[in-house]
Amino acid sequence: SDDELHARIRAAKETLGDRVVVLGHFYQRDEVVKHADFVGDSFQLANAALTRPDAEAIVFCGVHFMAETADILSRDDQAVILPNLAAGCSMADMADIDSVQQCWDQLEELFGTEPDEDGRVPVIPVTYMNSSAALKGFCGEHGGIVCTSSNAATVLEWAFARAQRVLFFPDQHLGRNTAKAMGVPLEQMPMWSPRKPWGGTDPETLRDSRVILWHGFCSVHRRFNVAQIEKARAEYPGVRVIVHPECPMEVVDAADEYGSTDYIRKAIAAATEPTVFAIGTEVNLVNRLAAEYPQHTIFCLDPVICPCSTMYRIHPGYLAWVLEGLVEGEVQNRIEVSADVSDTARVALERMLAARP
Ligand code: 13P
Ligand code: SF4
Repeated sequence: SDDELHARIRAAKETLGDRVVVLGHFYQRDEVVKHADFVGDSFQLANAALTRPDAEAIVFCGVHFMAETADILSRDDQAVILPNLAAGCSMADMADIDSVQQCWDQLEELFGTEPDEDGRVPVIPVTYMNSSAALKGFCGEHGGIVCTSSNAATVLEWAFARAQRVLFFPDQHLGRNTAKAMGVPLEQMPMWSPRKPWGGTDPETLRDSRVILWHGFCSVHRRFNVAQIEKARAEYPGVRVIVHPECPMEVVDAADEYGSTDYIRKAIAAATEPTVFAIGTEVNLVNRLAAEYPQHTIFCLDPVICPCSTMYRIHPGYLAWVLEGLVEGEVQNRIEVSADVSDTARVALERMLAARP
C-alpha cells in the first residue's frame, strides 16, 4: 500500500543518512516529491547535483537526460540512480547525434567555418537540457552550450555574441518563443528535419537565418491551445494565464506570461491578492501548487490530457527498491555516461552554468 511504501522509503533514507541525496523534478508525483531532499526545475536540479559531493549516491526522480546530466556534473565515484530506467523523454529522443551531424555538415557546406570580421563564427550549436548526453557532447566539441527553459534567453545572447546564427535543438517551441521575444523575425528561423532538411526554405534566404530550429517538441506541452485560454478568460475575467515555453508560439502569445516551472511557482508564490491562475504545464505540478496556495484558484488549462507519462514512471515502489538496494550495498539502475562523452558534455554544461545575462 501507499503507506507501506512511504514507511519503507523513510526507513531506508534514515539508515542511509547523508550517504544518499534524493532529487525530484517539479513534475514528479506527490508521493515521490515528499521524499526528495531537493525539488526544482531542471536547471536547479543540475546545480543541486553539485551541492552534495559527499554523498555516495544521487537518486534522481526525474527523466533519463536529467540523470545523465547529474552524472556528468557529479564526482566520478558518485553513483547516479534513475529509479525506473523507462523514464525517458520523447522530446529528447527526437534529436539523435547522426541527424544533428548531418544537419551540421550541411550548415558547414552552406556557410563554411571562417569567422566574420567581428570574429563571429557562422553557426554555434545550442542544445536544450532535454537532450541526450551525446548532443551535449556535440555542443561542447563545437563551441556550443546547453540551455534550460529558465536561462534560454541568456544563453541565446551568449551564443549571438559569438556566432552569426544558432542551431537550436531539440525543442522548436522553446527556440522559437525565446528568439521571437528577443526580436528575431520568424522568417529568420528556418526549421530543419532529416526528412525535409530546410522545410522548403529557399537556400539563398538561409544566409539571413539567425536561429535554425530543430523539429522536436514536447508531446505534453504541445497539447495546450488557444481555445483553452479563451475559455479560461471567458469563465474567469481577470485570470492570469501562465504557460511553459515548450508550448506552441500561438499559446505563448495568447498567455499573459511564460516561463520555466520554477518561474510559474515563483509567480504564484509572489501574488499577494487572491488570484485566478490558469497554467499551461504538467498537471502534477499545477495540482500541487493549487494545494499549496489555497488562497488562489489555480487550475491546469487542460487537466485531462496533460500529465507527463514518463515522469510518472517513477513510482514510489521503484524509489523504495533502489534505496533499499543501497542499504544492502547494491547500486541498481545506475546511469553512467562514458568518459569521452562526459568530458565534452561537461564543457557545454559548464558554459551554461557560467553564462550570465
Ligand atoms: P523545466 O524544469 O526546465 O521548466 O523543464 C520542464 C521540462 O519539460 C522538464 O522535462
Ligand atoms: Fe520530456 Fe515533455 Fe515530459 Fe518534459 S514534460 S520530460 S519535455 S515529455
